[in-house]
Amino acid sequence: MSAKKIRHYLQFNDFSRDDYEYVLERARILKRKFKSYETYHPLHDRTLAMIFEKNSTRTRLSFEAGIFQLGGHAVFMSTRDTQLGRGEPIEDAAQVISRMVDIIMIRTFGQDIIRRFAENSRVPVINGLTNEYHPCQVLADVFTFYEHRGPIEGKTVAWVGDANNMLYTWIEAAQILNFKLRISTPAGYKLDPALVAPESVPFFQEFDDPNEACEGADLVTTDVWTSMGFEAENEARKAAFADWCVDADMMGRAQSDALFMHCLPAHRGEEVSAEVIDGPQSVVWDEAENRLHVQKALMEFLLLGKLNH
Ligand code: CP
Ligand code: NVA
Repeated sequence: MSAKKIRHYLQFNDFSRDDYEYVLERARILKRKFKSYETYHPLHDRTLAMIFEKNSTRTRLSFEAGIFQLGGHAVFMSTRDTQLGRGEPIEDAAQVISRMVDIIMIRTFGQDIIRRFAENSRVPVINGLTNEYHPCQVLADVFTFYEHRGPIEGKTVAWVGDANNMLYTWIEAAQILNFKLRISTPAGYKLDPALVAPESVPFFQEFDDPNEACEGADLVTTDVWTSMGFEAENEARKAAFADWCVDADMMGRAQSDALFMHCLPAHRGEEVSAEVIDGPQSVVWDEAENRLHVQKALMEFLLLGKLNH
């Protein structure tokens, strides 16, 4: 085992602006290789363990296909059928799993769980979503914005909806990548001051009216009203969030060429109208596909560092 310092990707601000410039460029190169059927196996014989404590379609598939396309192999582990589901301490699991594989992705509940896992891991750990953060998704979203509109620096992103893992990640991204963020969340579902002090975020504005938040935005984005792990609040949330549906009127307040993003899965008629998510400004399918390309770049970076080919 080398003494090289291991880097983890547990939240968006684990990487610097320079790191992002590199990873986004690698994602572009790896996407091009993929589209031209070029065989590229820099992670030959490397193994990725994927630990899921919550459901997933995109994250599982993009990591599993991604490591395979880079020449490696994935092992899917769910709490439903591992000892983690029977109370094995997370620290013990990290010690054992990280002695057998080269890199680990975890989707779990509290951010403290992934931190404790990483502290006991011999190999890089990637956050595949926690209650607090979803960095791989925002990485894909920033890349998708870049593909459609160029650099996100100086642009305006509007967030309409819950103060959830996606929003906290967008806030970190705005700080690192220097774009403006206008957000609107319903009463009772505001940002947790324990997680973020909005006054410390440059170019951040909060609005009671979701329509106002969309004013002049280059990108309007939202997410489910009820995230995984909060299902017991579903009915109360449906009532509280009724006006936080991104519809054509809201998009009309944004720039005429504004993009619409949603990390998916979506609920048409709740957080977004069918007209918007299935309309011409929506780039949700590109966003989903780009999970594959950015995560390949991320795994390559965490395992091999910076390359120049
Ligand atoms: N957006 C996203 O993370 O999707 P999954 O829950 O399907 O992985
Ligand atoms: N905020 C959502 C994202 C799902 C990909 C959740 O945590 O369930």
